[in-house]
Amino acid sequence: MSINYSDKIPNNVNLSEDKTLQRALEHWQPEFLNWWADMGPEGSQSFDVYLRTAISVDRAGWTQFGHVKMPDYRWGIFLHPSDPDCKINFGEHRGEAAWREVPGEHRANLRRIIVTQGDTEPASVEQQRHLGLTAPSLYDLRNLFQVNVEEGRHLWAMVYLLHRYFGRDGREEAEALLGRRSGDADNPRILGAFNERTPDWLSFFMFTYFTDRDGKFQLFALAESGFEPLARTTKFMLTEESHHMFVGESGVGRIIQRTCQVMNELNTEDAQKLRAAGVIDLETLQRYLNFHFSVTVDLFGADQSSNAATFYSAGLKGRYEEMRQDDDHVLKGDDYPILCVEGGQIAEKRVSALSSLNERLRDDYIIDTVRGVGRWNRIIEKAGLAFRLTVPHKAFNRKIGTFAGVAVSLDGKILTQGEWNARERSWLPTAEDRAFVASLMGKVATPGHFANWISPPAVGINRQPVDFAYVRFN
Ligand SMILES: [Fe+2]
Ligand SMILES: [Fe+2]
Repeated sequence: MSINYSDKIPNNVNLSEDKTLQRALEHWQPEFLNWWADMGPEGSQSFDVYLRTAISVDRAGWTQFGHVKMPDYRWGIFLHPSDPDCKINFGEHRGEAAWREVPGEHRANLRRIIVTQGDTEPASVEQQRHLGLTAPSLYDLRNLFQVNVEEGRHLWAMVYLLHRYFGRDGREEAEALLGRRSGDADNPRILGAFNERTPDWLSFFMFTYFTDRDGKFQLFALAESGFEPLARTTKFMLTEESHHMFVGESGVGRIIQRTCQVMNELNTEDAQKLRAAGVIDLETLQRYLNFHFSVTVDLFGADQSSNAATFYSAGLKGRYEEMRQDDDHVLKGDDYPILCVEGGQIAEKRVSALSSLNERLRDDYIIDTVRGVGRWNRIIEKAGLAFRLTVPHKAFNRKIGTFAGVAVSLDGKILTQGEWNARERSWLPTAEDRAFVASLMGKVATPGHFANWISPPAVGINRQPVDFAYVRFN
């Protein structure tokens, strides 16, 4: 499956054979570029950035590295190869041939799923657009831009599906994806976490660790879809997504490493002394972690949802690793544990497995998240320090689902509003925390140099040295 790079829009979907579709997408392309110029990384238009570009969907050699100007990045449409025997693997259509066109009765739901996923992609670019001005190194600046261009490509992936399979309403939805703005009062992005600000690099690394990982789990669930074009598209998006989570995990890891180094040098755990030395104390890291974890678990939606049940039974959206689950893949009559409030405490109850699929995906996400936090703790342990980062209780600081509006402590105890108010400052980033982190931000633009609050990475990108000129300013 080769990619046609001579087309205006690189693609492996034989775009030149469908002139109407090609024209429609070529009409959307300049609108996308206008959006990129307005809402993409601020002031970056003339930089040469060492970026990877997708050139094939082969696992072995899908990418090519080189310096490019970001507006000239080749955003393209790449689908995982088609399998002629592809079947629907779950739900009421289990065992039937996968759909290559949209079934009429599932059209509205599929469109909604694609638009919701598509909306997150440009949203994160908008949230991150000012960060380039304060990058802690050229290496980090390059990683930010890599994530940004790939989120742009993920938008292309969803827009292709809308244009190709949903006719006029698909084209209208594709326009609307460029019309909404993260955090805008009148026309915001669809999901809450994508309207939050990403004001500093600690937030950026936390976002790519926690919130891009929500993306991973959503994409895994969509990669099971009985609508084969959606499954093929999301499978390829997952290849790119793992770098985004790497940026987050290694970014936070390097901040921890630097803080631990200074803690040992000064022989102190005192947050004020560490702040005075220009590094981020571990307590502040914990509060940022608590915030990003809790807003991200909300993205999975209500713990019981008839939409989630419908999407599954209809074969539109599966579970994480659907084919590894040892059950009938229909789930009628099965149950699943969710949390509830009972007698002033958090308790567990079993409910329909179909209606609790959001909760199940959230639980799978949490398992994955906890593992990475364990890897951060090993950095602290290796430095010989006693502090450990923890992941909050699932019910902590929730705005969606059973626990919306319920005050719950980090360790899962129900609190009165007064108790919550008294503790909130020690659990979530305060205005002072944010002001302190903001005060550390300042652009470091010399190859091989890093801001004081973050350690250099162990290795560079694509086996380049750490002091490589990842970005050239012109
Ligand atoms: Fe994405
Ligand atoms: Fe991502």
